[in-house]
Amino acid sequence: MSENEKDISAAVRLVGITKTFGTKVVANKNVSLTINRGEILSVLGENGSGKTTLMNILSGIYYPDEGQIFVGGEEVSIASPRDALRLGIGMIHQHFKLVDVFTAAENIVLGIPPEEDGGRRLDMKAVARRVREICARYGFDIEPDQKVYEMTVSQKQTLEIVKVLYRGADILILDEPTAVLTPQETEKLFGVMREMKKDGCAVVIITHKLHEVLSISDRVAILRKGEYIGDVKTSEATELSLTEMMVGKKVALDIERPEPVNPSLRLSVKNLTVYGAEGVPALKDAAFDLYGGEILGIAGVSGCGSKELLEAIAGLQTPAEGSEVRFHPSDGSAGKEGVSLIGLTPRQIKELGVHLSFVPEDRLGMGLVGSMGMTGNMMLKSYEKGKSFFTDTQSPKKLAEDVKDDFGVVTPSLSTPVRRLSGGNVQKVLVGREIASAPEVLMTAYAVRGLDIGTSYQIYRLLNEQKKKGVAVLYVGEDLDVLVALCDRILVLCAGQITGIVDGREATKEGIGLLMTKLTDPMQAKNETGAEEKEGEKA
Ligand SMILES: Nc1ncnc2c1ncn2[C@@H]1O[C@H](COP(=O)(O)OP(=O)(O)O)[C@@H](O)[C@H]1O
Ligand SMILES: [Mg+2]
Repeated sequence: MSENEKDISAAVRLVGITKTFGTKVVANKNVSLTINRGEILSVLGENGSGKTTLMNILSGIYYPDEGQIFVGGEEVSIASPRDALRLGIGMIHQHFKLVDVFTAAENIVLGIPPEEDGGRRLDMKAVARRVREICARYGFDIEPDQKVYEMTVSQKQTLEIVKVLYRGADILILDEPTAVLTPQETEKLFGVMREMKKDGCAVVIITHKLHEVLSISDRVAILRKGEYIGDVKTSEATELSLTEMMVGKKVALDIERPEPVNPSLRLSVKNLTVYGAEGVPALKDAAFDLYGGEILGIAGVSGCGSKELLEAIAGLQTPAEGSEVRFHPSDGSAGKEGVSLIGLTPRQIKELGVHLSFVPEDRLGMGLVGSMGMTGNMMLKSYEKGKSFFTDTQSPKKLAEDVKDDFGVVTPSLSTPVRRLSGGNVQKVLVGREIASAPEVLMTAYAVRGLDIGTSYQIYRLLNEQKKKGVAVLYVGEDLDVLVALCDRILVLCAGQITGIVDGREATKEGIGLLMTKLTDPMQAKNETGAEEKEGEKA
């Protein structure tokens, strides 16, 4: 299969690596793994299985408690990312480490000691030349003098890749790189990875999307609960066999999609426009209905307007004049017209039964207080950092217990600070809190972000349970396979506009991917309202 089968040679050998955090968490337990040149290796494992930790050890972020590392046959000690880079090891982290106000080139040379850059660092023209060479080699569309804040997420990721290539890395580690990309951007990244492989680089990708593992890698190494389970040739693996290795038992791969029963109108949205920071519409003229008993998916890349859509409904953003959001309670108490949510406070909206659970990229940055336990976090409801804290009406202790049981949150006690829990567990608390508080409209964004398959399925099941109870579910998701399998309808957003609402039972992810990146003319989007735009803008 692989065109380079013959010249595969070990780039890195990890032998008996053990890494513990504190006294209890064994993140890596006696792990031995070989990484070859001219090969793309997937590292697969459930959340918390130790993938990131293992690769952080290789890239100099953590130092192992035990074990040896060999690079090019020589035993090495990697005490810092700089040590790793000297050995040709570069890692692209899940969260980018770029300075927004700096240019691409400035970010690239940031922190390189001049003696390691042949003095080039001081000569930005030479730096730009080298950056252009790298970009030309892999077809990257990065301009050396482009500022980071002007870049799309995909360009920022590309910049991180250029940064490590600039420093001569030929062992590349990408930690869940596709989580933030459209299918088209993902394909482009995979193309780049294949080129690197051709150049003889060793490429390691951590992802939890099995179809990606199957399409991009030559070999898959599986970790389970910190231990190395084994590796398989991708050509001999299937989604099912990989899942079994990963979780150690069979799991149902099919997501259930019951037919909606007696769908009735819960939310009607018309002309919903939200202005972003620069007075440009972040969401423009959105119109759709949401029914009880259905799951309406929302697809779109980051910055497409889904955040504004959810936040406007939840009362966290002020929509422009003329926007309409009406809620129709299931008891019919608001008559045919329903009740307008515009102008209500987030708390009032929540009390009506319209709940939002937004899983941010930084799980502890928003929505949860790291120093508090689960019970404390059930009481707090902070949609925006530092704003609108208020107390839930239900007993927080009971909610905490329900969430712990329903989701299987692993925590020593309900009062253990949530920042001490693993990412997956933190997320269960975040999503579980909204589901357990029995809403009429449940909006969730990125509910399974970064969660392993088992836990993700638990969440899909819980959302389906809500749907069967008649709750109207709005699900903003990243994985198109899941959207297509789970949702009754899928609303696609691109650059703040709805580009389509498709039937989930007939949708294909290629079709959705196209709608997600459908080019719209920004001038055309603007000229209809023209001068009125400023008036609609509110603080
Ligand atoms: N800095 C840290 N401090 C304490 N525990 C950590 C730290 N980093 C990771 N862990 C724990 O180590 C285990 C493995 O985590 P990680 O390597 O991030 O897993 P994965 O990337 O496979 O999801 C988890 O239980 C996680 O909570
Ligand atoms: Mg990880």
